[in-house]
Amino acid sequence: SLDLSTLTRQTGLTALDYGFVNTASTQSEITYIDGNQGILRYRGYPIEQLAENSTYLEVAWLLIYGSLPTADQLGEFDEKIRRHTLLHEDLKRFFSALPHTAHPMSVLSSAVSALSTYYEGSDPDDVELTMVRLLAKLPVIAAYAHKKSIGQAFLYPDNSLSFVDNFLRLNFGNMAEPYQIDPTLSKALDRLLILHEDHEQNASTSTVRLVGSTGANLYSSISAGIQALSGPLHGGANEAVLQMLAQIRDSGEGVGKFVERVKRKEDGVKLMGFGHRVYKNYDPRAKLVKESADEVLAGLGVADPLLDIAKELEQFALQDEYFKERRLYPNVDFYTGVIYKAMGFPTRMFTVLFAIGRLPGWMAHWREMNLDPQTKIGRPQQLYVGEPERQYPGL
Ligand code: ACO
Repeated sequence: SLDLSTLTRQTGLTALDYGFVNTASTQSEITYIDGNQGILRYRGYPIEQLAENSTYLEVAWLLIYGSLPTADQLGEFDEKIRRHTLLHEDLKRFFSALPHTAHPMSVLSSAVSALSTYYEGSDPDDVELTMVRLLAKLPVIAAYAHKKSIGQAFLYPDNSLSFVDNFLRLNFGNMAEPYQIDPTLSKALDRLLILHEDHEQNASTSTVRLVGSTGANLYSSISAGIQALSGPLHGGANEAVLQMLAQIRDSGEGVGKFVERVKRKEDGVKLMGFGHRVYKNYDPRAKLVKESADEVLAGLGVADPLLDIAKELEQFALQDEYFKERRLYPNVDFYTGVIYKAMGFPTRMFTVLFAIGRLPGWMAHWREMNLDPQTKIGRPQQLYVGEPERQYPGL
């Protein structure tokens, strides 16, 4: 590898790299990806092993602090998070100022930004506490964004429940009756969250780092990361996949004709949930999510024709020269939506679930960046191709 900042200083040359396809902005010890072989490891542990044996909070600790927590460390971490789930009553009123039609990702990002107005004065340097607060409050904000969109009352968190069960109750519980925990649902959601926890320098993580590199606080950086995640080329793809599958079903167009339109790049139509900047082989997360999809739908007693359309699309695409040549495979977003839908989440909540999953990774990178003495403010170069000097008229 080449240290471009030294090269730039010595030669004055600037490398033009649209989309940062070949530019590393940092060194990192958090996540390893081999895109050609379809390998993903968090802190050295294969994603398959973590998804099978770990929990969301355990992996969050691993990503942030670098090793698996002891039972005591995990217990203490979990306990602290349970103690910080409440939102300030004034912040709860913040939701009433937003339209019920607001996209939950915008609500999430705005509310996280608003969190900094409550806490930045009291503990600007207490990053550990801020991370606990964010882990505790993001799911509550997310559930309130959901409740707001369907016109239902917000519940107070029940801190006797696990992280995932608390979140599910806040989304699907009501004031009238006790919430029934469904272990199939809890396990499946926990597993999906683990699969989303980190993915090295993706667009939203790079956003979190760029904002953080200016010295902005963690709330502001995470709020910006949520907005970056919302785009359909990034986390917003999980919502777009479901819309695409529903459109194929409703139009009666058929998978073959749809794929032909994608190949002709008709109106810029893409096969959403396919392709990846780094994976040029099957995304290992997509493999695990696909395995889960059948299992979870059967466990929840749901039969969804959209899952059949998704599988048919995948088969079609994987045998087609267009996709083979470009090495386009399903990514993590391709099968998640079908599972979230079976769980009862509306389509517009899908990327919010991704954001909850990704939060530990964002924070781990923000922390790593701030501990790294080599960190500088992020500031890309440009090659100016506009007008040379011009004279203002009349002078
Ligand atoms: N459907 C059809 N064609 C595609 C797709 C797709 N999903 N993805 C890439 N291609 C084509 C491109 O048109 C291009 O073709 P060309 O060589 O004829 O011009 C070629 O494959 C290379 O693609 P790029 O756009 O250069 O790849 P890039 O690395 O810039 O983009 C991205 C990656 C954004 C993920 C892209 O594959 C895409 O748009 N996929 C659909 C959206 C999606 O699923 N995003 C989620 C990504 S995972 C995540 O963020 C969680």
